[in-house]
Amino acid sequence: MKKILITGALGQIGSELVVKLNEIYGKENVVPTDIRVVEGNEVCNHPNFAILDVLDMDAFMAVAKKHEVDTLIHMAALLSAVAEEKPLVAWDINMQGLINGLEVARALELQFFTPSSIGAFGPDTPKVGTPQDTIQRPTTMYGITKVAGELLCDYYHTRFGVDTRGVRFPGLISYVTPPGGGTTDYAVQIYYDAIKYGKYVCNIPQGVKMDMMYMPDAIQAIIDLMEADASKLVHRNAFNISGMSFEPEEIAASIRKVMPEFEMTYDVNPTLERIAKSWPDEMDISAAKEEWNFKAEYDLDKMTVDMLEKLEAKK
Ligand code: SER
Repeated sequence: MKKILITGALGQIGSELVVKLNEIYGKENVVPTDIRVVEGNEVCNHPNFAILDVLDMDAFMAVAKKHEVDTLIHMAALLSAVAEEKPLVAWDINMQGLINGLEVARALELQFFTPSSIGAFGPDTPKVGTPQDTIQRPTTMYGITKVAGELLCDYYHTRFGVDTRGVRFPGLISYVTPPGGGTTDYAVQIYYDAIKYGKYVCNIPQGVKMDMMYMPDAIQAIIDLMEADASKLVHRNAFNISGMSFEPEEIAASIRKVMPEFEMTYDVNPTLERIAKSWPDEMDISAAKEEWNFKAEYDLDKMTVDMLEKLEAKK
């Protein structure tokens, strides 16, 4: 990676990725784009920031050409809960947006990254030790777009030689930019409410485990995979990665180690329950470890301490 175009740069991942890429590659070599301006998001003040609708192919190509980028990190997409509310919009943004990105990468010979997700799995997938290569029959529109996206990225690599790479992200937790409509958002909101109210009403049922990861590990994973030696990559797209796996009671217990008075009750959202129960409990991440040395620095308790500290300081 030398000069990097990012779509969806004001999202939960993009906002922190841009900061890290600025540090490593130099601000002048980072081109953040998003469909909108978000007040208070520092990335909007980046000297190369541009408005870009990924469904506008001409504009997409033009911004990549103008900045002579060699890498495209394509983050623009709808998350699972929003996608269930607006399935056709999700299909358009997640699929046509991705195809447009892949076409830009093919035409301009760019290295390409896009995230898949734990949402690419479904109720028939083995829940524990979910293998890298296994049954993928998701029951959400989000999952359908993610599986199709994984296949498209493989196709663009084998058919056109595009250097496509990607991971299956678990739920991502951060104190910087809130996520926008995912099923795993509860694991972010719980920290905000712990600091603000000392209690939290959880919309995911007790006992439902999902893989999660702290944002610094997620950002590092993107960079490590993009910089990995291509000859070592057996799988290119959609590596299972995770930093931890927990159910609501476990994250609440972790918060109680720092804030003993913290209380949690439940008001389960049936749509989120259905989605969460269709996803793995705990994925096998050995392919990512073996092929590009993936590792996560944060476990649940280490993340909890950092989240609470950072949110307290933001108060
Ligand atoms: N965090 C995402 C979601 O819940 C999973 O990819 O939609």
